[in-house]
Amino acid sequence: MYKVGIVGASGYTGAELIRILHHHPCCKITKVYSRSLEGRLISDVFPNFLGIDLSFSDPKNDDFADLDLLFLAVPAGAATEYASRFDGKVIDLGADFRFKDPHLYEKTYGIKHQAPELLLQATYGLPELFRDKIKKSRIIGNPGCFPTSIILALAPLVKTGYAGQIIVSSLSGTSGAGRNLSDSQHFAHRNENFGPYRVGCHRHTPEIESNLANLTGQNHQVVFVPHLVPAIRGITSTIYLDRVMSLEKARELYTDFYQDEFFVRVKGPGENVESKNVIGSNFIDIQIHEDKHADKLIIVSAIDNLVKGASGQAIQNMNLLFDLPEYTALDFYPIYP
Ligand SMILES: NC(=O)c1ccc[n+]([C@@H]2O[C@H](COP(=O)([O-])OP(=O)(O)OC[C@H]3O[C@@H](n4cnc5c(N)ncnc54)[C@H](OP(=O)(O)O)[C@@H]3O)[C@@H](O)[C@H]2O)c1
Repeated sequence: MYKVGIVGASGYTGAELIRILHHHPCCKITKVYSRSLEGRLISDVFPNFLGIDLSFSDPKNDDFADLDLLFLAVPAGAATEYASRFDGKVIDLGADFRFKDPHLYEKTYGIKHQAPELLLQATYGLPELFRDKIKKSRIIGNPGCFPTSIILALAPLVKTGYAGQIIVSSLSGTSGAGRNLSDSQHFAHRNENFGPYRVGCHRHTPEIESNLANLTGQNHQVVFVPHLVPAIRGITSTIYLDRVMSLEKARELYTDFYQDEFFVRVKGPGENVESKNVIGSNFIDIQIHEDKHADKLIIVSAIDNLVKGASGQAIQNMNLLFDLPEYTALDFYPIYP
């Protein structure tokens, strides 16, 4: 059994890691860390985990010595300290290892990168596109939730040399903002309320653009507008593109590109993509439409932000690092309704 620890286990993605890893046949959660909840049983804080015998400990007093892998489910800027203190395998669910260029990270997050030398050991953890590099890396920068839904939905087309417009409108549930409460996250404000935020300046735009460039060797400019909706989980992204090929050709391209990918489901004609069909699972659903009148291809994708958009994908990456079947502990279907 591989021994794993989770820093930031008191947060939403940390809790989702616990939920899924608890069923993993080849690894054992040995340590769960929280600075604010030291000594408390996880079921005191998350009653859904009643029966799991694990207590939080403070990461600052630990040398992580007996661990094979450390998940860092912490905010941007907090992961570098732990990745520097531990020389085993690290999967960071935040942004500290998503950029090759520390200056782009600093410009995007407004934080100086504390360990730029570690970026040489890091790989962007989108398994469907960078699997071979991930397997050989010590550190994985697990992708952001919006970028996962957008890059996977664009990859087959941009790899053909597509150089047209890319305009993306995404919808997200509120768990994407994490467990910390803010005024705009109160039920009375969020419920029955939907609208865009960070229009033209969201921190995921440079992550999407730089990783599309890593994939194709070309620059891609992306217009990205996220919206918050009164749901707990889920992201759908609708992407407007020039109609550089027929709908039939595009469907064939996507179906072939993802034919061996367990977690990518390219929908057939007449089938809709909706968040409900992926919630609680590590799947991404993708559908391709066309608007002949406006001469556009329209691609829609859906994921669960806490699973394929965070903790599920992190476990997919862990399986690759440990040379296990990629779907180990992740081959469950979405919940419905
Ligand atoms: N939520 C999503 O859908 C989603 C999707 C993709 C990626 N992400 C990324 O994943 C990371 C975690 O997100 P989340 O939604 O789980 O956030 P969250 O619910 O706010 O939890 C983050 C946890 O990190 C701990 N923490 C904060 N600063 C720390 C530090 N300096 N050292 C150690 N622990 C620290 C906090 O626990 P204590 O104060 O108890 O230590 C907190 O509970 C973020 O980088 C986020 O951007 C989130």
